[in-house]
Amino acid sequence: MGRYRSIRGSTFLCIIYMLSTVVVYESKKRGVTAVFVFGDSLVDVGNNNYIPFSIAKANFPPNGIDFPGRVPTGRFSNGLNAADFLAEKAGLPSSPPFLSPENQRNMSSFFAGVNFASGGAGIFNGTYHNDILGQSISLSRQVDYYVHHVRGDLIRLVQPYHDVRTYLSRSVFAVVIGSNDLLHYFRRSDLRRRTSIQRYASSMAAKLKEQLERLYDNGARKFLAVGTGEIGCIPARRLKFRGAKCDEEANHGSLAFNEALKTTMEELKAQLHGMNYSFFDSYKAMHDISNDPILYGFREIKAGCCGLGKLRAEIPCVPFATYCTDREHHLFWDMYHPTQQASRVFVDFIFDGSPDYVFPINLKQLVSAP
Ligand SMILES: *[C@@H]1O[C@H](CO)[C@@H](O)[C@H](O)[C@H]1NC(C)=O
Ligand SMILES: *[C@@H]1O[C@H](CO)[C@@H](O)[C@H](O)[C@H]1NC(C)=O
Ligand SMILES: *[C@@H]1O[C@H](CO)[C@@H](O)[C@H](O)[C@H]1NC(C)=O
Repeated sequence: MGRYRSIRGSTFLCIIYMLSTVVVYESKKRGVTAVFVFGDSLVDVGNNNYIPFSIAKANFPPNGIDFPGRVPTGRFSNGLNAADFLAEKAGLPSSPPFLSPENQRNMSSFFAGVNFASGGAGIFNGTYHNDILGQSISLSRQVDYYVHHVRGDLIRLVQPYHDVRTYLSRSVFAVVIGSNDLLHYFRRSDLRRRTSIQRYASSMAAKLKEQLERLYDNGARKFLAVGTGEIGCIPARRLKFRGAKCDEEANHGSLAFNEALKTTMEELKAQLHGMNYSFFDSYKAMHDISNDPILYGFREIKAGCCGLGKLRAEIPCVPFATYCTDREHHLFWDMYHPTQQASRVFVDFIFDGSPDYVFPINLKQLVSAP
């Protein structure tokens, strides 16, 4: 009798356990399986450390001063960047850098996503000699890496556990790129004579569209497209006016690209079955933060934190540069890049911001979509 009861009891417990496992598995299945990141220094987590001759590196202090262990990692930030906060919101560890030899030896490290982003990268191969001089990994090469290297290995890795198509369709493909192409345009008088910013911005969006289509053809369904920010207001551009005002021409270029990108995303959704996306208007977010910094916890929105000279933007954030102590209140870490705190605020907008900032749906809705 006693024996019977205990068997019944353990069977009961066993069933409860099985049910709860199924529930956990089901809810996990509805979440994000992996985050793949493509883009530039805003989301590079160390790829450029492995490009021998690249000068676009941040693997030295004071970069990383607020990173756990105070280590410079190659992130262009005092600590974490937007790629890290995106992974955190998705409930996953930060996607590791593709070029790290350690990760390449052990593909299991790519199970929850891969980061292909590279400081200095552009949509165009020619931006800052991405491909010609091997300074950065251009967007098309980043997508090549995904298509030709990662996808096949991932399939072998994932197959025993997941249906591969489902695994990819529940992954987020985040693309943060365009600023370098725009900055390149405004620095090159030959380019400006040859083509209008309007046409240049449209061809940026058209090239980006090709790459998003390639990702779709290789399993991607959920995209996060991040527009370019108020780039005329970064310390490097403000310097032109001794800090008094933003470079409105560069801002105009960023707006032109964002308009083209918005249209592109709508076209893609109409054209590609089962595709879903969030578009983040980082221009508007940056603009609103700069107009009311205190509301968002910032006090300094013009000067960088690390660097030398006016706005700390005359000499970049090099190892001998000085840096501020109130980093939590600075929008910019160096003359180009946001602080860790600014990246955190941006990703909060992306995750559950209103349609004024992120549309047609925010990331929270995107990840819970079927
Ligand atoms: C490979 O990476 C996975 C995930 O990061 C880790 O758990 C595992 O220990 C690694 N294996 C080896 C042999 O390093
Ligand atoms: C850009 O570079 C990629 C290689 O990464 C190449 O496949 C592509 O054809 C190049 N595009 C142009 C326009 O040169
Ligand atoms: C896109 O996401 C929304 C919001 O979760 C959802 O209602 C819609 O069905 C999704 N569209 C596709 C094509 O999956």
